[in-house]
Amino acid sequence: KLYGGEDYEQTRFRHAANLARGFEMKRVAANAVYEPVIQFIAAVALAIIVYIAAGQASSNTTTVGGFVAFFMAMLLLFAPLKRLTAVNDQLQRGLAAAETIFAMLDQDAERDSGTRSLDRIEGQLALRDVTLTYPGKTVPALDGITLDIAPGETVALVGASGSGKTTLANLVPRFYDPDTGVIELDGIDIRDIRLQNLRSHIALVSQDVVLFNDTLGHNIAYGSKRDATPDEIRAACVAAHAWDFIQAMPDGLDTLVGENGMRLSGGQRQRIAIARAILKNAPLLILDEATSALDSESERHVQAALDTLIANRTTLVIAHRLSTIERANRIVVLEDGRIVEIGSHAELIAKQGRYAQLHALQFSA
Ligand SMILES: Nc1ncnc2c1ncn2[C@@H]1O[C@H](COP(=O)(O)OP(=O)(O)O)[C@@H](O)[C@H]1O
Ligand SMILES: [Mg+2]
Repeated sequence: KLYGGEDYEQTRFRHAANLARGFEMKRVAANAVYEPVIQFIAAVALAIIVYIAAGQASSNTTTVGGFVAFFMAMLLLFAPLKRLTAVNDQLQRGLAAAETIFAMLDQDAERDSGTRSLDRIEGQLALRDVTLTYPGKTVPALDGITLDIAPGETVALVGASGSGKTTLANLVPRFYDPDTGVIELDGIDIRDIRLQNLRSHIALVSQDVVLFNDTLGHNIAYGSKRDATPDEIRAACVAAHAWDFIQAMPDGLDTLVGENGMRLSGGQRQRIAIARAILKNAPLLILDEATSALDSESERHVQAALDTLIANRTTLVIAHRLSTIERANRIVVLEDGRIVEIGSHAELIAKQGRYAQLHALQFSA
């Protein structure tokens, strides 16, 4: 898979982890109920037997020896009974595990309906009446989005948190498919393009960067860029302002990151992702709050690299920094999954609408 797989994997993992936690909670709850109940039943049964036996003894139907023998047998029954609850616990545990695994297996594989492969793309992107409601939600995350983006154009998505910016950006590499509507790349429905081919044309820097349990170098030269030369990787790192901190590490580009390796700061991870995007040099660039984890000093540096990157390719940019937005060719304002305004910075400010409002808010902050 190309590097865009991160978001998808993460969502899948979160789902699986939640499911597992749910089953574990159920198991513990079931166990907490079962054990006392079974113990209680056993105690009651014992009491009844002692009572009956005592009655029989007094009426001389049973001998004392017979009673003791019977009583001992009863006590011996306790241990297997207790073990039965343990078996039940094991069973619950097994079932929970099995269900989790089956739920994982039952997850749809990514639908790759595409048959076409495009060698190179112009970068014309069109969304036609796109609607998406997340499973289990009642309100759509995107509602009737229609948008045409010309090759080389930079379009900024603006809107309050939860307005659907990330969702919209994630539709382009097909992390999700819209419920209705069509997305076209160079006039071709993206569902007709082979998934791997589609994603090879897209570079994405997302809000939260997932790094693989591998070396820094392999994290940057990932997927289709596996064969990049050290010089190319270094150039990308320099442009992303990542080279200084990488060089300072014990093994440079060979330093292990992720679970078993070096912990990186949010800003460092984001710069790794930017280096990855620079190296990929794809005609379609998606930046989803790509500099949100950087301090303003490094953001200024990285911004220069992003400006060069944005310059000659179709870009969809989600940024909270206004400077990035102001430079976009067009600004699309989203509210509750709908486009409420489109225009240049100057146009939208003059309009005194939603964008002007957001703009004023940001400056007062
Ligand atoms: N994976 C998901 N599952 C369910 N709902 C989601 C998911 N991702 C986002 N949403 C919901 O969709 C809406 C839009 O979210 P998002 O696209 O992340 O907004 P933004 O990026 O503008 O903050 C929100 O209401 C959010 O809660
Ligand atoms: Mg977002």
